[in-house]
Amino acid sequence: MSALDEAADVEALDDWRISYLGRRGELTQILRGLGSLPAEERPAAGAAANALRRTLEEAMSSREDALKRAAAESDPVDAIDVTLPGWPVPRGGIHPTTRIVREICAAFASMGFSVVEGPEIEWDHYNFEMLNIPKDHPARDMWDTLWIDYEDENGERPMLLRTHTSPMQARTMEATDPPVRVVVPGKCYRYEATDPRHEWHFYQIEGLAVDRGITMTDLKGTLYEFARRVFGVDRKVRFRCDYFPFVEPGVDMSIDCFLCDGGCRVCSDTGWIEIMGAGMVHPKVLAGVGYDPNIYTGFAFGMGPERISMLKHGIEDIRLFYSNDLRFLRQFS
Ligand code: PHE
Repeated sequence: MSALDEAADVEALDDWRISYLGRRGELTQILRGLGSLPAEERPAAGAAANALRRTLEEAMSSREDALKRAAAESDPVDAIDVTLPGWPVPRGGIHPTTRIVREICAAFASMGFSVVEGPEIEWDHYNFEMLNIPKDHPARDMWDTLWIDYEDENGERPMLLRTHTSPMQARTMEATDPPVRVVVPGKCYRYEATDPRHEWHFYQIEGLAVDRGITMTDLKGTLYEFARRVFGVDRKVRFRCDYFPFVEPGVDMSIDCFLCDGGCRVCSDTGWIEIMGAGMVHPKVLAGVGYDPNIYTGFAFGMGPERISMLKHGIEDIRLFYSNDLRFLRQFS
């Protein structure tokens, strides 16, 4: 064993092997000589010699490993075959939701809006109360809510996962004096069964502009410009009455269907596609945050970016955005 430890390279190791384990090696001689021992000593001597051989062979092979490793480390050119092709490094992409959110926010940023964000876990106070949706008001049915399992001292559950980004209207106005011009991208949640057009979590982009003298014309002009930037300069827009408790008047905005002229599945044969809700900020909402509704007016809007992306790219199922199927993500990122 000490001779083995002294073998400093592969050749020395081979010499060692020949002198102990080789055909004329010392151990081999002993094994050959077994036959000349008295019969009763043979089994014990044989077993001992074989055990010794195994020990020596194992020691030799670990010494051989150690020598090879040391050789490879001191000579990396031998250790790494630089002619082998490398592993491909797959490149990540930007998620389709992130892409459309950035695109929409950029369109508004270029019109003077700043981008702000708010909490996904929200108080009932901001998600509903401050938006003119009191407790037990039937309008609450418009938003199927996921409540946080937390009770206050009155036994009420005041926390929820925000059902829309509109609470940021109240938060933004509370925190700043007018004029206000913001867009708010963010994740929202609803207690809903999913289908190709509904997810239980999704994004919204909220918009809010408040100042002296803002009118419905500003709302229409701004959103028309947005539609042209995101869907092309030929777009036509249409506004119809709609109801949201925090705006008055409230509207929904549609763009003319850019996939057909006359009728198709996407516009359900109407030629129009609804893309967002909007309206003039309700005086009660302004008063609630301490803005004087006799001096200030404003408009607000809210849209679903996944839906906008679906329209732009012909995506048929909103659930594809969050099911982590790389075949989909690669196609749209
Ligand atoms: N928050 C509304 C919704 O989720 C959308 C909206 C925002 C409507 C702002 C009007 C003004 O349905």
